[in-house]
Amino acid sequence: MWSQAISFEKGHLTISGLSARELATQFGTPTFFIDEDHFRDRARAWSKSLNQHFGESAGDVYYAAKAFICTDVARWIKEEGIGIDVCTGGELAVALAGGIDPKKIEVHGNNKSVAEIERAVQVGVKTIVIDSLFEIERVAAAASKHGVRQCVMLRLTPGVEAHTHESISTAHEDVKFGFSIASGAAAVAVAEVLSHASLELRGFHCHVGSQIFGTDSFELAATRIIALMKACKEKHGIELPELDLGGGYAIAYLSGEKTVEPEDVLPSLSAVVKRECAAAGLALPIISIEPGRNIVGPTTFTLYEVGTVKDVLLEDGSTRRYISVDGGMSDNIRPSLYGAEYSAVLADRVSTSAHALSRVVGKHCETGDIVIRDIQLPSDIAPGDLLATPATGAYGRSMASNYNHLPRPPVVAIKNGKARVIVRRENEADLLALDVKE
Ligand code: LLP
Repeated sequence: MWSQAISFEKGHLTISGLSARELATQFGTPTFFIDEDHFRDRARAWSKSLNQHFGESAGDVYYAAKAFICTDVARWIKEEGIGIDVCTGGELAVALAGGIDPKKIEVHGNNKSVAEIERAVQVGVKTIVIDSLFEIERVAAAASKHGVRQCVMLRLTPGVEAHTHESISTAHEDVKFGFSIASGAAAVAVAEVLSHASLELRGFHCHVGSQIFGTDSFELAATRIIALMKACKEKHGIELPELDLGGGYAIAYLSGEKTVEPEDVLPSLSAVVKRECAAAGLALPIISIEPGRNIVGPTTFTLYEVGTVKDVLLEDGSTRRYISVDGGMSDNIRPSLYGAEYSAVLADRVSTSAHALSRVVGKHCETGDIVIRDIQLPSDIAPGDLLATPATGAYGRSMASNYNHLPRPPVVAIKNGKARVIVRRENEADLLALDVKE
């Protein structure tokens, strides 16, 4: 749950030797603190494991930028030699600003604009993952215009129900993404791509969903896609050389949960892929994956300051303590959007008080502005205390908003006992910057 540089010394959260109190004084609250070495280690671990289990057939690890990206993190990705998955022109711009080689970039999106497609083709991205028949025509036209043969993949929905929240499950039939295998849409798309000289069909892609424990859904998806690869060979006489199995590997948010590590999933996934390819009479394709949350999630915590505390008498006679912090749904929308659960600790002192049933809430004008619905916290928590919430690296800052005109928090990278701002805090001038004054 906690990033690897964190320790707790006499109740004080310390990261790489810097205490939560020092960090709060220097950078203010709320702030996201990201452990740079931990990020790099996790990226490397996925890459190493992919190489180990797929050998010569190992493709790239494409870090899913949507989980969190900024220019400095893009630079870390470049330095670690992994690739990146972007799903908008904005994410592409940050990847390029961080110096990532376009040949390490894969472009996603179910409704890429013509301008986004043109830019991707023009800068020479490695692969565009096509999501609809319309897009086949649009990418083909852009490639012709720029005089290139663009490598593409087709995003497929293999009809797999991933065991996760409905909003982040993406490979069953009733979704906006990709081509369904079962309905025959995928086969139609293959024929269509093959009819364009400006497109090179590299293979298939699927992303089963997000925050997935276990390996079943990845394996079932791979099995169904390999069956389609076999059908393609029979029909068109071509063996597609690549398969991208997407991201989705879960992390621990609460104590008792265990973050999925590459070695928990890639050995069995590689065994299934090898078995199915052998049975289908296919050479092993180049296998890529796209973990986002799993790389960045555990590396980051959010530090908040407590502003108010109040007790509410519940119907059953018990009390609930509301602890208000200085952020909330604008820096972590996941509890309100997905019912996601987090934990928190008192970060800057020891408390010997008994624990009380508490609800950590934000400062927004909304009852649903909840960071943690139910948590046992020391009953003496008071204004001025610091609370730290672990595992907020993925889909926290990247989904942050300016709701209630709160400036979005900064991201501070910690490395070798030093802290530096990699995304600065917004200020009132930023909030006013887009308003047109007559
Ligand atoms: N590849 C594709 C094509 C994706 O759509 C996604 C996530 C990923 C990779 C990375 O998935 P990850 O490894 O991070 O689970 N906002 C939601 C998550 C949405 C994920 C969307 N796609 C959340 O906060 O849980």
